[in-house]
This record gives sequence, C-alpha cells and structure tokens, in this order.
Amino acid sequence: MVEEKKVIFSGIQPSGSLTLGNYLGAVKNWVALQHECTCYYCVVDLHAITVRQDATELRKRTLDVMSVLIAAGIDPEQSVLYMQSHVPQHTELAWILDCYTYLGELSRMTQFKDKSQKAGENINSGLFTYPVLMAADILLYQADMVPVGVDQKQHLELTRDIAIRFNNLYGDVFTVPDPYIGKAGAKIMSLQEPEKKMSKSDENENSYIALLDGPDVIRRKVKRAVTDSDGEIRFAEDKPGVSNLLSIYSSICGISVEEGEKEFSGQGYGVLKERVAEAVVDVLEPLQKKYHEIRKDKAYLTEVMQKNSQKAAYVAQKTLAKVQRKVGLAPTKL
Ligand code: TYM
Repeated sequence: MVEEKKVIFSGIQPSGSLTLGNYLGAVKNWVALQHECTCYYCVVDLHAITVRQDATELRKRTLDVMSVLIAAGIDPEQSVLYMQSHVPQHTELAWILDCYTYLGELSRMTQFKDKSQKAGENINSGLFTYPVLMAADILLYQADMVPVGVDQKQHLELTRDIAIRFNNLYGDVFTVPDPYIGKAGAKIMSLQEPEKKMSKSDENENSYIALLDGPDVIRRKVKRAVTDSDGEIRFAEDKPGVSNLLSIYSSICGISVEEGEKEFSGQGYGVLKERVAEAVVDVLEPLQKKYHEIRKDKAYLTEVMQKNSQKAAYVAQKTLAKVQRKVGLAPTKL
C-alpha cells in the first residue's frame, strides 16, 4: 500500500524584515520537509494588518518575504507558496470558526496580551481573533503538522481545541494538527537582551540579524552580542547570551548543543563569536545573492503567486464547502 504524504502548513508575517530566528525556528524546517510532504507555505498579509502598517511598505514587504522564502530554498513548483489574501477561503472559514471559539480562550493567549500592551489605542478585534484566522489557515488544508518556533505553540494548541470541538459536533471534518518544533533553533533570543526572543519588530537593530544583513553587519552584530563575565562556553539557564550563541551555531551546523559545547571547550568568547558569525555569513551570503535576482523578476513572482493561489484555493474550497454544509448554510445550487 502506498502511504499518503503528510500535509504541512505554515505561515509567516510580512511585518519587518525576516530574522535569523524566523529562519532557524521555521523556514529551515520548511525547506527540509518539502521533499517528503505536501507543503503549503503562506505569507500571512492579513495577519500583518492587525498592527497598523504603511500600505506601500507592506505591499513591498510581502513580495520581499516571498522572494526571501524562495531564495532560502522553498521551491514554488514543489511547495504551494502563496499570499494569504489571495485565497479568500481563509477569512470565510475564520468567520465560521469565530463562532466556535470562546472569548475566554482568546483572552488567555499570551501573544494577545503582549501585543495589546504595545498596541497603544489600537487594540482592534483583529488582534484578538488573530489565532482564529491562524486556525482557519491550518485547518483548511487538513494539515497533519505545522512547523513553527516555540512562540506559536499556544496558538497551535488552540487550533487543536477548535478542531476537536468542531469534530465532536459534526463528525470528522478537520485533521487535528500537531506542532513540529525543531530541537535546536526553536527559540532564538535577542542578541542584546537574551532573555527576550529575537524579533523583527524590535526597535534595537543590534538585537536581531536580518536575513538580508550584509556580512560586515552580521559580524558587527554578533561581536556586540551580550554574553557574561564567567568566560566558560556552556549551555545553561544562567548564561542566556552564550547559550543563545551556542543554539545559533548548532542549529546552523546541524549538530547538537552538546557537540557545540565540546567543539568550543577551553576556548574564549571571541572564538565563539567569530565562528558563529562565519557560520551565519556562510548561510546568508548565497541566500542574499539569489534573493536579489528573484526580487527583480516581477513576471516570475506574479506567476508563482497566481499558480499557487489557485492550487491552494482548490484544496481550501473543498474543506470550506464541507464546513458550510455541516453548519447549515444553504448551497448555491439546489
Ligand atoms: P511570525 O511571522 O512571527 O514568525 C514566523 C515563524 O518564525 C518563528 N519564529 C522564531 N523561531 C525561533 N526563534 C525566534 N526568535 C523566532 N521568531 C519567530 C515563529 O515561531 C514562526 O513559526 N502567527 C504566526 C504566523 C502564522 C502561522 C499560521 C504560523 C499565521 N498563520 C499558521 C503557522 C501556521 C506568526 O506571527 O509567525
């Protein structure tokens, strides 16, 4: 019997430039999974507008992100790489799922709590129902696995709860997805405040490595990374800066953190920083070269977006139609 390929879904927001955290926590795994699975990878522009955006800048950035993903190794012939707003089934299913999600569940989301603290007066309802749109993204494709960083785990648990609740009411409508979280790299921390995750929306540019930072900028940022005064290279809770550099190194080199510790045993922080910087440059330099070629090619990007949004919509519509029937919406043709 031929075993069916597993279905993978994941998304990324086009808010700010992608960071090394996005790459090691998510995109690297997306690339690895695409050979053995059926993969849907989505630039989630509708999620990005839960925070006020400059329209021209957002439009540009969604294309930047799509190009970076291709440059990082996502093959748009093999994986369905598309823009969320080009497949209207996402928002249609999100509305239905809103009616099956409780206020209490959404108020417990730590990302909502964090973001609403930073949002000033703009605590809009999109920010609150954000995880429901995310659930719709995933459930539309009957995904088995969702490769994400640790920070998305709570949203994934909510997605599972919504799917199980819906299935209990209406039969097996949705596949209940599992998170896929890599061993190393699932939580890359800020280079300046290593107790905080590395984030593209951080105001301090030295705190993150953007995937499009040039080699000298990368070297400078790693050199300035906060460490400690103990001088020993080992992974420990009370050594967040050094542990983070070790995580970055081992994740890029595809080795375990213990192997990384061994490699640096007896060495100083200067050597660690130098090797981390060179490992990052070695991955990002070829990515950037490809990126600049792809980003210029509007005809190619248009073709990728159009072809893939059609493929996505075909699958999404099947699930949406089933859901509409289950909840009692009248068909267009009797
Ligand atoms: P976003 O855009 O914040 O991040 C995209 C992916 O990168 C991971 N990530 C990290 N991993 C390790 N260390 C870090 N410092 C780090 N920062 C970010 C995130 O965990 C994520 O996997 N809500 C999602 C986007 C989304 C989505 C989805 C994801 C929308 N719909 C459906 C999966 C499935 C988000 O804001 O990710």
